[in-house]
Amino acid sequence: MPANPIAQKKTLRVEVNEQIECAQTLASRFYTDPAILEIEKETIFRRTWQLVGTLQHACGEVNGMKRTIADPETFFTADLADEPIVVVRDKQGTLRAFSNVCRHRAGPIAQGSGCKNVLRCGYHGWTYTLDGRLIGTPDVEGVEFFDRSTMGMVPLRLETWEQFIFVNFDAQAEPLAAFLGEIPRQSRGFQFAGLQLVEHRDYVIDCNWKVYVDNYLEGYHIPIAHPGLMREIDYAQYRTDTFRYYSQQFAPIRAMKSEDSAERFYPPGGGLQEALYFWVFPNLMVNIYPDNVSTNLILPISQEKTLTIFEWFFHDAGSSTMQERVKKAVQFSDEVQQEDIGLCESVQRGLRSATYDRGRYSVRRENGVHHFHMLLSEFLERP
Ligand code: FES
Ligand SMILES: [Fe+2]
Repeated sequence: MPANPIAQKKTLRVEVNEQIECAQTLASRFYTDPAILEIEKETIFRRTWQLVGTLQHACGEVNGMKRTIADPETFFTADLADEPIVVVRDKQGTLRAFSNVCRHRAGPIAQGSGCKNVLRCGYHGWTYTLDGRLIGTPDVEGVEFFDRSTMGMVPLRLETWEQFIFVNFDAQAEPLAAFLGEIPRQSRGFQFAGLQLVEHRDYVIDCNWKVYVDNYLEGYHIPIAHPGLMREIDYAQYRTDTFRYYSQQFAPIRAMKSEDSAERFYPPGGGLQEALYFWVFPNLMVNIYPDNVSTNLILPISQEKTLTIFEWFFHDAGSSTMQERVKKAVQFSDEVQQEDIGLCESVQRGLRSATYDRGRYSVRRENGVHHFHMLLSEFLERP
């Protein structure tokens, strides 16, 4: 019988003990088996809130004026775990998401991004309003029992937090607020309004998406693998707190010693002790600093290939002091990212080895990884 992911879903058991003290780590097949990635798309990526863009998403120009999805009568398309979607702002200003699959013969309703007052499918021209109604169907005379009013674009759940736009394929899922928990309250002191996207970097990494997330969720490897980062933080005080659908890492900035001032990236006392590092299940990191926010979005390409998208948002991005600050922030992050890429790619090779299947967790340093694996087990084993 051919492998059928849906049939296997019933028997997928993560088998990670709830008590971290007794638990063994996730078995290596979860990182190497393509059938498991297909199940994850279905049970995790299409049942959680996925970041699909920001309110600054460019949507072309009208009469030489740049438009974004914050303006009326704009749209952009995106991909959510292999599902084509379109995000639309209608004339009245309501932001909506739909499946970007035409109700006729599955053509692309919208392509790219732009400013339009209707969406016309690129295959045979069926036309939909921006609130999803089907209003134009050339040459359908003679089709029996054809009721246009039941053939609108398929709506999806969309919610925003600050300028971030999230879509969820699961009509039963808890609201975005349940996933973000206390994050909006904790970051309330931060000025989100007016943030501008100043830098975007894509990194394609030869590892499973969970290898990258596991690695992000622990500071255990910092002393060995990130000498530059180790100089910046007070490792003894580094800790991870876990919540229902997210976790937060605390990495206090180390006090300055006289001999190391020149090589420090974060000058202590600059208020940067306030930095907030959040991970939201399953694949989003949000790093909030006093003067900027960055996001890391982790997207599986195949079971052993992952795209990580890094974006930086600053205020007053045009000023030269800010440009210097942006350059340094991106450079520092890139150094750490290159070190992590090397680690993640070796771990992926290790996971394929016949000699390895599972390990153990550090109770003190890997509680964030264990928390992630418990959420995986909850979603993968859900009926
Ligand atoms: S597939 Fe869209 S009009 Fe035919
Ligand atoms: Fe790292």
